[in-house]
Amino acid sequence: MDSKISQREQWTSKLGFILAAAGSAVGLGNLWGFAYRASQGGGAAFVLLYVLIVLIVCLPVFVAEMALGRNAMASTLLAPVKLAGKNWYPLGILFFIAPLGIASYYSVIMGWTADTLFHSLFFGLPKNLTEAETFFGSISSGSSVLLGHLLSLVLTAIIVSSGIKKGIEKVTRYFMPILFIIIVILAIWATSLSGAWEGYKTFLLKFDFNELRNPQTIRNAFTQAFFSLSLGIGIMVTYASYLNKKSNLPKLSVGVASLDTLVGLMAGFITFPIVLTFGLSDAISESTVGALFISIPTGLGSYGAAGRIVAVAFFALAYIAAITSSVSLLEVPVSSLMDKFGFKREKSVWLITLFLFLAGIPSALNLNILGTVDSIFGGVLLIFGGFLVTFFMGWVVPGKFNEELNDSKVGIKTTRYLKFMTRWIAPPIIGFGLFISVFDLMKSWVS
Ligand code: PHE
Repeated sequence: MDSKISQREQWTSKLGFILAAAGSAVGLGNLWGFAYRASQGGGAAFVLLYVLIVLIVCLPVFVAEMALGRNAMASTLLAPVKLAGKNWYPLGILFFIAPLGIASYYSVIMGWTADTLFHSLFFGLPKNLTEAETFFGSISSGSSVLLGHLLSLVLTAIIVSSGIKKGIEKVTRYFMPILFIIIVILAIWATSLSGAWEGYKTFLLKFDFNELRNPQTIRNAFTQAFFSLSLGIGIMVTYASYLNKKSNLPKLSVGVASLDTLVGLMAGFITFPIVLTFGLSDAISESTVGALFISIPTGLGSYGAAGRIVAVAFFALAYIAAITSSVSLLEVPVSSLMDKFGFKREKSVWLITLFLFLAGIPSALNLNILGTVDSIFGGVLLIFGGFLVTFFMGWVVPGKFNEELNDSKVGIKTTRYLKFMTRWIAPPIIGFGLFISVFDLMKSWVS
């Protein structure tokens, strides 16, 4: 069963792991997801809830996932069974299926991103909202969307088939610094826009206490926190299984979570000024999955050559961020097949890529299906996974969790804090978030 585990690859350094894990976390969720969730009416209350969830529950989930992966030294499909026996196989299966679900439509959105990038580069930007809507219609349908979906999957597959060190680690080492530079430059540029202040106010200061009780805002905040940190579906289990025993898991989690949240907030500092400067809040608050691809090019279109350069930088940034996330989504099922059936990496990669291409076709051709798949796989399932993983490490195999914390040498106070949070605080809060999210999702289906 675990024939390949003994030859597990490892990251070359701690930095290699941090960049790869941050590469997984920082993605379309920070740019596309954050903008449209923040504009669905939650405003500053959404942002506050999101940050609180990251600090209070996501950090313990992060450490729990890493502890599971490093202790088992196995892929997500087998890790729970290795630690707690056959009864926990369903958790492994959940961790196997959820990334497949996300990856199937993530590459579709990557395709839109690539299309918008090429169009901005070679043909310029739309002149008004109608033109932008027509353009988005053309890239999100027919053969063009299938081609974008396919190319993004193939690019991801090429990187993953080169392995951990030569593929994922190498790519993230180059891409992550470029991404940080572009995002900082764009955030500085956005301060010069006339609607900058209006934009910051909308997403940081427009605080409505009632929003804290709005199920949609609560679901958005939980979804954003888990999706953006790539938590609850075994990504960090897999990545941590390539770590050596000496690394300090809590410290690494704090590093990755801070980078991701920083990028998320900076993305808000770019998209909100643009949207409010050009009076596009209506376009974006309709909050269809395509809002960002319509409002950003339209806004920048009225800004001449500078606008075009910014559009190219923005969509290049989004694509770079997305590719380092999609490799993590592919790595999880790939490593699971390798561990379970002893498949070679290449075989595993191309089998799953073919499956993802086919599974993504309905989402590619129909935005409603994409939205639904996203709210299930990229929403409630992640929250459910987060709940299960804290329950598993906190209550089912607390001894293993302890071992990993001891190996991390974090000191008695941090160890106590993490154990307490993982057993008593995270599961009930996530359980509550899950309940509200499922309820809100059902409500949105009925209405
Ligand atoms: N975190 C990634 C993003 O923000 C998406 C992702 C979610 C990747 C879940 C892996 C797992 O875009």
